[in-house]
Amino acid sequence: MDPAYGVARNPIDEVIAGRLSCREFSGRPVSRTTVEQILRVARFAPSGANIQPWHVYVLAGAARSEVSAALLHAYENEPNEHFSEYQYYATALPEPYLGRRQEFGRLFYSSLGIGQFDAAGRSRQTAKNYTFFGAPVGLIVTIDRRLAMGSWLDLGMFIQNVMLAAVGRGLQSCPQETFAKFHRILRPLLSIPPEQMVVCGISIGHPREQASGRLMPRADVEAFASFKGFED
Ligand SMILES: Cc1cc2nc3c(=O)[nH]c(=O)nc-3n(C[C@H](O)[C@H](O)[C@H](O)COP(=O)(O)O)c2cc1C
Repeated sequence: MDPAYGVARNPIDEVIAGRLSCREFSGRPVSRTTVEQILRVARFAPSGANIQPWHVYVLAGAARSEVSAALLHAYENEPNEHFSEYQYYATALPEPYLGRRQEFGRLFYSSLGIGQFDAAGRSRQTAKNYTFFGAPVGLIVTIDRRLAMGSWLDLGMFIQNVMLAAVGRGLQSCPQETFAKFHRILRPLLSIPPEQMVVCGISIGHPREQASGRLMPRADVEAFASFKGFED
């Protein structure tokens, strides 16, 4: 049994524990109505003073293919010319985060049979991000750059809601910060106004039947929670 389901006690727990970053989607289409339903429920994410600082560009069909082709071209031909407008990772990751990141790399690439020093294999895997891992729907998520750090909390809650609402419909997703690097390509293609910053993409679709299940472990509660004042 998937160990994540060991924590599931009710349908909400099951949806939370059932979400994973899927990187092998089937081509089975997802209708506009389904994506609209997902967004309609995701918008109930809380946000400070209810400002709702999210914006998404929903791509399918030819629009998705056009974005994929442009990003793949840039990824392959302009490897040093595209940078995110925000910094996702600290320049020097302290422990325990560095160790976890290294564990991620080990688990992820070994699950794909890609060796530690196989730069070409890793690059081919990274390129799959830009085809949305074969998912029929891709979202590009932006935030108004005039907002402050707190609004990024709100955006994260919205993104999680999108991914959970997808699970509730038998779908999976993958959040992808790597799209942020290519904002200069995405901006004209999607008519993204200058005040919006590209935060990430989200692939959404049906997992391939052979797709691997949960790969990434989590630290135990004791590693991140400090309980005070409980009797037991
Ligand atoms: C904001 C954010 C950005 C991410 N960006 C990428 C990405 O660009 N490409 C990718 O393959 N996975 C990406 N991930 C997925 C993480 O690697 C994944 O969430 C983590 O390893 C835990 O695995 P799980 O989501 O399957 O539980 C991202 C996750 C988050 C939350």
